[in-house]
Amino acid sequence: MNEPAARDAGERMSGPELRAHQLERLRWTLRYAYDQVETYRRKFDAAGVGPDDCRSLADLARFPFTSKADLREGYPFGMFAVPMDRVRRIHASSGTTGRPTVVGYTENDLDMWADVVARSIRAAGGRPGHKVHISYGYGLFTGGLGAHYGAERAGCTVIPASGGMTARQVQIIQDFRPEIIMVTPSYMLTLLDEFERQGIDPRGTSLKVGIFGAEPWTEAMRREIEQRLDIDAVDIYGLSEVIGPGVAQECVETKDGLHIWEDHFYPEVVDPLSDEVLADGESGELVFTSLTKEALPIIRYRTRDLTRLLPGTARPAFRRMEKVTGRCDDMIILRGVNVFPSQIEEIVLRTAGVAPHFQLQLTRRGRMDHLTVRAEARPGAAPAQREAAAAAIAQGVKDGVGVSVAVEIVDPETLERSMGKFKRIVDQREA
Ligand code: DLL
Repeated sequence: MNEPAARDAGERMSGPELRAHQLERLRWTLRYAYDQVETYRRKFDAAGVGPDDCRSLADLARFPFTSKADLREGYPFGMFAVPMDRVRRIHASSGTTGRPTVVGYTENDLDMWADVVARSIRAAGGRPGHKVHISYGYGLFTGGLGAHYGAERAGCTVIPASGGMTARQVQIIQDFRPEIIMVTPSYMLTLLDEFERQGIDPRGTSLKVGIFGAEPWTEAMRREIEQRLDIDAVDIYGLSEVIGPGVAQECVETKDGLHIWEDHFYPEVVDPLSDEVLADGESGELVFTSLTKEALPIIRYRTRDLTRLLPGTARPAFRRMEKVTGRCDDMIILRGVNVFPSQIEEIVLRTAGVAPHFQLQLTRRGRMDHLTVRAEARPGAAPAQREAAAAAIAQGVKDGVGVSVAVEIVDPETLERSMGKFKRIVDQREA
């Protein structure tokens, strides 16, 4: 898997070529969105800006943001920019409350999506002839079908396993011998446990690369998975509103954050409170504008994901985004201290005697919120080791995050297992 990846035309652009292409496509998108989508027309007019007011990339900052609420308001197809007979496919993401967010794709959109996922798979080390086992869910979720058509476009052989039926997945991996697996990192852990349960050493499988995304995961989780499976683990990012998986991808040769496929998706990072655009290198909320999409052009979409933009490395023309540390929505505020599940993950994964399975339970007593870290003991961990692990996690959170939490070490195999995107926080504050 060591020969360099073939580059497509977009990847071969120089920095200046990319900027010129972006400005041209941005001006087209703003005009197109204004002319075709009522919501954009109303929002631009209210903000006193018109599509022709964008003369440089920096001018994008003058345009209004789009949020999930805008898409929900137009449920289901209100923000589509083409008549239904040009929409070839629909996906939807469920979210935690209310109506799902519905997204649509023209034939050209599906073509572009397959291209960017194929590019992502190549950046991860995938080559024509490789077998790709896809355990992202197939259906309205963009993970399964998005990965599927990209892997076919990359010239790979697709094994469309989808999520669930974990024991059978292990058997298929053993028998079909894929080189690549695409799955959420949390479901990979479920699969790893199943390998071990069946008495199979996961390090001995045919797998060489894992392409993990759809939820936040830490460097500690990368080490855990790479070691237990003897593979390279790389990060893939995306969201339905922007396209699905394949918005950004980590390159296997550098593993230093995700190159954003900026010829199709223009990134900004803004201060989540003041809404001001931040300079590259500063951390804030990621915002995307599509440059080539037809069915659902998206202007300055607030992702709620927290990261920062960095210069390109393995693909020099494209900026990178740092691994997403969390979502604005997943931030827990405990006695004034901001806590992200990823911080707890780092601490749990470095603690001896506990498995990499944990959940965060939020409760309220009086007016105070309390956080309990529930982590699972490794099989065979002695009571004294479990006590030591609980103390180490509590101390680690106190020192590293600056807040006191309760820690409960539960018996092996008792916490809920991930079947796809994992729900880390169990919020019991309403009850
Ligand atoms: O999760 C698309 C996807 C599928 C990406 C498969 C990668 C692999 P949604 O269901 O719309 O789409 O959820 C999007 O998931 O805003 C992030 O909060 C989170 N997310 C996705 N990828 C990553 C990642 C798909 N690599 C939301 N790291 C996004 C951290 C991620 N969070």
